[in-house]
Amino acid sequence: MQFKRKKLWLATCLLTLPMAIAMAEDAPKSVNEQLVDTLTTLSGGPHAGFRANHAKGILATGEFTPSASAATLTKAAHLQTKSTPVVVRFSNATGVPNIPDANGNAFPKGIAIRFQLPEGEISDMVCISVNGFPAATPEDFLGLLKAIAASGPEAAKPSPVEQFLGSHPAALAFVKTPKLPPVSFATQPFYGVNAFKFTNAKGEAQYGRYRIEPIAGAQFLSAEAADKTSPNYLMDELPARLSKSAVKYRISVQLAGSGDVINDPTVVWPDTRKVVELGVLTLNAMHANGEAFAKGTMFNPLALVDGIEASDDPILLARPGAYAVSFGRRLQSQ
Ligand code: HEM
Repeated sequence: MQFKRKKLWLATCLLTLPMAIAMAEDAPKSVNEQLVDTLTTLSGGPHAGFRANHAKGILATGEFTPSASAATLTKAAHLQTKSTPVVVRFSNATGVPNIPDANGNAFPKGIAIRFQLPEGEISDMVCISVNGFPAATPEDFLGLLKAIAASGPEAAKPSPVEQFLGSHPAALAFVKTPKLPPVSFATQPFYGVNAFKFTNAKGEAQYGRYRIEPIAGAQFLSAEAADKTSPNYLMDELPARLSKSAVKYRISVQLAGSGDVINDPTVVWPDTRKVVELGVLTLNAMHANGEAFAKGTMFNPLALVDGIEASDDPILLARPGAYAVSFGRRLQSQ
């Protein structure tokens, strides 16, 4: 009897296994997988070994020195008194690995900062060169990307992307943002866009968004000067600049005012909101092994330490999952 039952169990497993595999293959892909698939399609990929977004980049190293005001906002270890070593990756948007640096599609620029705390602990800050985002949810962002992908020259008018922008004012505002090519990554401001919750040693909590401002001042190229740039002008300029002098940015947090929406990155807070300085980021050298570090690293906006927490912004919460899909594919394809 025991033996018969075992045989029946084995037969059932063997019969249902192919069905289970077929069902898994047919299962709808997650939104994060579809986001990475669509970013890959839009870039003409897959491009083996590269990120599905922000594929072209360059890495530098330096340190972050906190200001006294940082501890009033958060008890995060790297925002107290001591300096912390950092690795920073600057990047162009899209998954196109050789996109010309001044191309409109290379906007927004990205900055990813890894704070390397003692005992192997890390915390990342991953920001873009525009204050805002085209979508409030990953589903809406997927809708925008799919509409762009379906709007080739042969698409009937109004094209899918024209229809999408017609019904999504935040996406329209984002695509209309002037795409100013910076003089250098050292003259480009960056914005955190998603809100985080900061808690200080007294247990006081406030929501805020990161701001990263070049101490040399924001400087952009005229359209005429941008037309004359070489395809890698930004990637070539940074090593030349760092060989002469350090590059510095002021990092701060713009605090939410009462009633400000904290879970929607399409809603930009007024410039009148209070800003708390966190400290100064100083870059002094190119990364000795930048390409290998970039390929083997996933910067993660939710790699946080005690004193900083995610808000419930659905875009922020989706990011690590989408990045992990891209990272997994990058590792497999190397
Ligand atoms: C649902 C929304 C988003 C999706 C689907 C998405 C997708 C991606 C993907 C797939 C990567 C490549 C990750 C890797 O392979 O390591 C990436 C990188 C990046 N993303 Fe996003 N992203 C989103 C929102 C944002 C937002 C809101 C920001 C900034 C505020 C941002 C800034 C960046 C930057 C700077 C990088 C490059 C990081 C690096 O240098 O490794 N992204 N994104």
